Amino acid sequence: MKIAIGNDHSAVEMKNQISEYVKSLGHEVVNFGTDTTDSCHYPEYGEKVGIAVANKEVDCGILICGTGVGISLAANKVKGVRAAVCSDTTTAHLVKEHNNANIIAFGARIVGIEQAKDIVKSYLDAEFLGERHALRVDMISEIENRNFK
Ligand code: RB5
Repeated sequence: MKIAIGNDHSAVEMKNQISEYVKSLGHEVVNFGTDTTDSCHYPEYGEKVGIAVANKEVDCGILICGTGVGISLAANKVKGVRAAVCSDTTTAHLVKEHNNANIIAFGARIVGIEQAKDIVKSYLDAEFLGERHALRVDMISEIENRNFK
């Protein structure tokens, strides 16, 4: 798969390690994040990855900030994005299976590197289950379509 990754200053080291890990699994990684620890603004990186995912330039995205929350909130403002914050592997596979999340997010200040790798692997190995879950994911898209042009 082709996977976009994005991060702010709090997650440069974790982004580098997760990128290498994802490549070791056989995937291509496109880096949209900052590569320095100079203070920056996470919405910029959430938006960049969100746009790449929504435009289908990549298959899915990984976002990392201090908590995973700010950067995922920004990505979720891009139409078509379903970014989910995960701190455990069960949530990581369920957000794909049930919610068809197209971006997974986590916090460099919240999870350690080994847990982060396990979260990413659980997400990437999972498949969307469709059926009743598809109806509900479609309902999320309809909220966007009803309320925002
Ligand atoms: C940056 O200090 C921090 O606020 C950011 O990485 C993130 O945790 C926001 O949600």
